[in-house]
Amino acid sequence: MIAIPYLTALSTYFSYGLLFAFGQLRDFFRKIVDWWRASTLDGYAPICLGLEDFYIRRLYLRIQDCFGRPISSAPDAWFDVVERYSNDNNKTLKRTTKTSKCLNLGSYNYLGFAAADEYCTPRAIESLKKFAASTCSTRVDGGTTMLHTDLEECVARFVGKPAAVVFGMGYVTNSAILPILMGKGGLIISDSLNHNSIVNGARGSGATIRVFQHNTPSHLETVLREQIAEGQPRTHRPWKKIMVIVEGIYSMEGELCKLPEIVSICKKYKAYVYLDEAHSIGAVGKSGRGVCELLGVDTADVDVMMGTFTKSFGSCGGYIAGSKELVQYLKYTCPAHLYAPNK
Ligand SMILES: Cc1ncc(COP(=O)(O)O)c(C=O)c1O
Repeated sequence: MIAIPYLTALSTYFSYGLLFAFGQLRDFFRKIVDWWRASTLDGYAPICLGLEDFYIRRLYLRIQDCFGRPISSAPDAWFDVVERYSNDNNKTLKRTTKTSKCLNLGSYNYLGFAAADEYCTPRAIESLKKFAASTCSTRVDGGTTMLHTDLEECVARFVGKPAAVVFGMGYVTNSAILPILMGKGGLIISDSLNHNSIVNGARGSGATIRVFQHNTPSHLETVLREQIAEGQPRTHRPWKKIMVIVEGIYSMEGELCKLPEIVSICKKYKAYVYLDEAHSIGAVGKSGRGVCELLGVDTADVDVMMGTFTKSFGSCGGYIAGSKELVQYLKYTCPAHLYAPNK
């Protein structure tokens, strides 16, 4: 058991409170002073969002040395953090040549492949020499190499689905795929603690979004029943399709999804299952194949299997694995495949 550092927690909250109060006071006086000055943007609404803008100017810039520190080594269990200094009360930070060795609690390099690895590193260097770091072209315009097709076949085989498509970024995989799969007249039922990429993808889709209590199958069933009875807003027509979105392992809580229960509820109500395995693929299951392998769920019962290469695989990018028809449809319609160059 680790003792909770109450004093540190309290003094941190107190410091935040103090900075907040002084920030508000300074903004108040600044407004009075600026009132006399003619603004060059007279009549325009502020371009930056209110509270976020205040937080950045009055709090974050003063304490930013605690965060976002550059590193100068691979993200291994220990890494080199670059030391910085400021001459203007932390508004700007300048790098020194000094580094400190720190325990890395900030990366998700679960299997250590992102650091020097005797199998991966030489192969990565070989492919860089042969194919370069980017194709400088979209997948459909000469940006597909044999590495992409090999990778897609390998991912599909590994996760146990007929086909897969890969993207240059995990975040983009969710935020660009959901608007292709769902739209007006569709219903997304999302776990309350789903990742921001899912939240933004769902919002961008134009579908109706309902949230169920984190990892609570009984609440999911309640929401499903209510929504099916209610139908689409205003017209009350039946939903065009329903998709339930969950994660294999929740990133902030480290909690395993109750996938078997969720899958059986979705089957009962004919809702599609979208499973984000960013943190579970390569990390759990007898052979690292994720939560389906760990919890004994047939991958045929999960309609869309999403995952990223940024965690266990120590690289970058994301994938969607599913039926051949689904993957072909995504390859023909998804802007992240059609218009974004691949690494
Ligand atoms: C559940 C989940 N999905 C998607 C992503 C986005 O993946 P990436 O970091 O590879 O862009 C993350 C990132 O941590 C995540 O936790």
